[in-house]
Amino acid sequence: MKALVLSGGAGTRLRPITHTSAKQLVPVANKAVLFYGLESIAAAGVTEVGVIVGDTAAEIREAVGDGSRFGLDITYIPQDRPLGLAHAVIVARDFLGEDDFVMYLGDNFIVGGITDLVDEFRRTRPDAQILLTRVPDPRAFGVAELDPAGQVVGLEEKPAHPKSDLALVGVYLFTSAIHDAVRAIEPSRRGELEITDAVQRLIDTGARVRSTIIKGYWKDTGNVVDMLEVNRTVLEGVERRIDGEVDEASETVGRVVVEAGARVVNSRLVGPVVLGAGSEVRDSYIGPFTSVGENCRITDSELEFSIVLRDSSIDGVGRIENSLIGRHVEVTPAAGVSRAHRLVLGDHSKVQIHT
Ligand code: DAU
Repeated sequence: MKALVLSGGAGTRLRPITHTSAKQLVPVANKAVLFYGLESIAAAGVTEVGVIVGDTAAEIREAVGDGSRFGLDITYIPQDRPLGLAHAVIVARDFLGEDDFVMYLGDNFIVGGITDLVDEFRRTRPDAQILLTRVPDPRAFGVAELDPAGQVVGLEEKPAHPKSDLALVGVYLFTSAIHDAVRAIEPSRRGELEITDAVQRLIDTGARVRSTIIKGYWKDTGNVVDMLEVNRTVLEGVERRIDGEVDEASETVGRVVVEAGARVVNSRLVGPVVLGAGSEVRDSYIGPFTSVGENCRITDSELEFSIVLRDSSIDGVGRIENSLIGRHVEVTPAAGVSRAHRLVLGDHSKVQIHT
């Protein structure tokens, strides 16, 4: 069995902040969302991985390398333009050969990995297996319609009037039956060859398509509440590890990760918390479910249930909660200004000020 990981697509400015131009590199608990996918592929016992790359190929290659650190053997497969998920399968035809494969969308996050799913597919070996999850607003997804016996009868890509709340999750298991299907379909209204249509074609031609409903699914839709929640879920699973420096005046409680090169001075960290390499926390409190990226400075402040991305500093501002702070951000008191807030905020920023 092989894996096909889709990390192509155009570089986009992501909301709520521009983490990176490759959306697959958005960090969750200080680690790129794509890396969790690659780790879960390795954990499922699949080592031969094709990675589809587009405009952001250089960024993806630099982050992932040859795959050896994940225990994977990676082949990069360039896709000239993002013409659709089914188009990516066509582009990868030579790499895939006649093998079964798991197709994994690089911007999707599956809590608990894919080992059980891959095992189930190997055991039952339908022509295709799709994953579904219940979402409050399915219009931004592929949507499945099941019959009363739970059999998939219809799939629609981003329908204006969804027939169910079951969204297609970005992990698909295929036999080589998919290759005829991806060649038989036409581009959709948005001009893409949709994998949703290819799976529908399998159903229509009598192939066996199984579905599994999962919980614990996330992709970045620009929703900060969801992002903080997935960060919380991942931090719940971290193991305590202090590779950096913690001075005698500081205390670290529970599952706290202090990466090598990070420093904690006269501060209290109550886990789960991760503190990225090269960061410094001084005279501060960092509370549960907080991820601080690399090269940050947190001074004379309190931070809880929040994400701070790399190269940012927070200095002398009291308590911050439920917040997402981007890269290269500075948060400081407004010196010399009486009872006024001074803000320089990027596109789509949201600020809630305590008055
Ligand atoms: O995330 C789940 C959803 O993914 C499913 O519910 C939909 O049925 C499925 O069509 C897909 O929808 P999106 O519109 O969200 O897919 P997106 O264009 O964001 O692409 C998903 C990943 O695949 C992303 O990592 C970029 C990559 N990609 C995308 C296209 C269109 C490629 O590598 N090549 C492509 O041609």
